[in-house]
This record gives sequence, structure tokens and C-alpha cells, in this order.
Amino acid sequence: MADLSIKIGHTTFKNPIFVASGTFGYGTENPELVDVSNIGAIVTKSITLNPREGNPPPRIVETPSGMINSIGLANIGVDKYINEMLPVYEEIGSPIIMNIAGSSMEEYIKVLQQMEAVSSNIVGYEINISCPNVKEGGMEFGVDCNMTEKLTKELRKLTDRLLIMKLSPNVTDISAIATSSENGGADAVSAVNTVVGMSIDHKTGKNNIYTTYGGLSGPAIKPVGLACVHKVYNSVKIPIIGIGGIVNSSDVIEYILAGSIAVQVGTANYRDPGISEKILNDLNSYLDEQELDSIDSLIGSVKTYD
Ligand code: SIN
Repeated sequence: MADLSIKIGHTTFKNPIFVASGTFGYGTENPELVDVSNIGAIVTKSITLNPREGNPPPRIVETPSGMINSIGLANIGVDKYINEMLPVYEEIGSPIIMNIAGSSMEEYIKVLQQMEAVSSNIVGYEINISCPNVKEGGMEFGVDCNMTEKLTKELRKLTDRLLIMKLSPNVTDISAIATSSENGGADAVSAVNTVVGMSIDHKTGKNNIYTTYGGLSGPAIKPVGLACVHKVYNSVKIPIIGIGGIVNSSDVIEYILAGSIAVQVGTANYRDPGISEKILNDLNSYLDEQELDSIDSLIGSVKTYD
């Protein structure tokens, strides 16, 4: 059997199949449907300084080969995360990566400071600089190289844990934002968050999402995700965690060929919260069939025509 373990920064994960923020709750919601100890890592829901109700409904709609969400970063806030979730994570059996969102540089800093002031087994932080669904902050950071580098530098000063910047596909040049993350001291980038989209009901003439636009995810965006990962792979040396439309092990292999060291399964969790375990088993079988000891030789090895 292949060795599926991977290393990002100084952290080793037992396998490269993670679950994406916002698609797996706080990691504790489906104990009867999935054995989370088999998952490479759980990236928990975005946490902000204060609790947030999120956007008014409708905030989710199914679309061809995907869905659009505009949740608006609804979450319990950092105090409750510390008091109620951290004790649970001591027992959960899967590495936890905490996703942090903020509407200002100060907010990201305060959340990270609060987290670092308490003892926890969180292995790292994924910094959400790419949420398309909030008026303040969110994507504002992830579309600007200077802001990305500054924020990364400030957060880097505060923690030795893994620091992962989550990139937006809604930019002219994702490589430039990835380079700013690397220059700021990030250990890795995750690519990509959702693609800005819109859904209209032709019968009623109404928009299907309260905020007009939302974030498109699911298989519809896999080609976008692959292109972004490949561009980033050609621009930075830090590892890339691929996200976007992964539903099976073939998708995982494609993301690895494009340049990912690991992937996050997102929207597919809504259909089957146990899908990551199945993908992991199929990935193992594929590597055995190919007589590969690990995924190392596959990373970034897509054959292009030039
Ligand atoms: C949301 O809460 O609106 C989605 C989070 C994100 O896209 O980063």
C-alpha cells in the first residue's frame, strides 16, 4: 500500500484528503456518517471575532453541476469556538485547521491572538481572504497583492502553526496573490474559493440569492480550480492545496497533476458527508494499480503541449 502521508511546512498529515471550510460544519456534525479520524484534516467553518448571523435567505441555490451560496460567514465567533469547540477537538482524532475570516486586518489579528493565547491542538490556520459574500473584508484582501502580503506578514509574526492563505479565483492574476502570500511567509496556499455567480428563476423573474451574487462551487468550477492551481504551481515554491469540484479520486489525481500536494473536498460533502473516506480508498487503489509508493512523483507532472 502507498504511503499517503504528506508534509506541509513542518506538519505531517496522514493523507492528502481534507474537507473544505464551510462544507463540514465544525467537524462534529456527522459522527454516524463519517469516521473523521480517516480524513487528512478538517478545515473548520470560517470564524470571525464576533458571532455572525450571516446573510438573509435565500442563501443557497442548486445550479447545473454545482451550487451558489451566500452564507455571509455565519458563525459562532472566536470565544465560543475556543470554549466549546477546542475541547471537542482534543478528542476528534483528525487534525484541525481553523479557517479565520475578518472584515479588517485588526480583526484577523485579534482572532489569531486569541487562539494563540490558549492551549489547543489546532495544527494550523487557513486565512479566508476570498469570501465573495460580505460587504466588508472578505475578498477585499485576496484581490490586492499589497494587502495580502501585509496581512500574511502580520499573522506570520503571531504563530508558528501552519499558515495557509485561501485564494480567490475572482482575480486577474492569482499567481501574483499567491506570490504575495509566499513573500509574506505563508506555509501554503489553498486554491480556490468560490467563483462569483448568479442564479435567476425565469418563471418568477426573481434572483435566487438574497445578495444578488454568491459563490459558485461544485463540479462546475473544477476546470477553473485546476487552471488556478497550475498557474500558482508555476509561480511559487510553497505547497498548494487544491479545491474546487472534487467528487472522486480521478478529480484528486487531476488536482495533484496540476500541482496540488493535497486537496479539500467541499460541495460533495452536502450530498455525502462520508465521500472523503470513499475518495481516499479509491486513491489508495489507484496508486496500488500504478505501483506508486506515494503521490510525490505525480505532483505538478501534467503533460502540457509546450
Ligand atoms: C460564506 O460564508 O458566505 C462563504 C464563505 C466563503 O466563501 O469564504
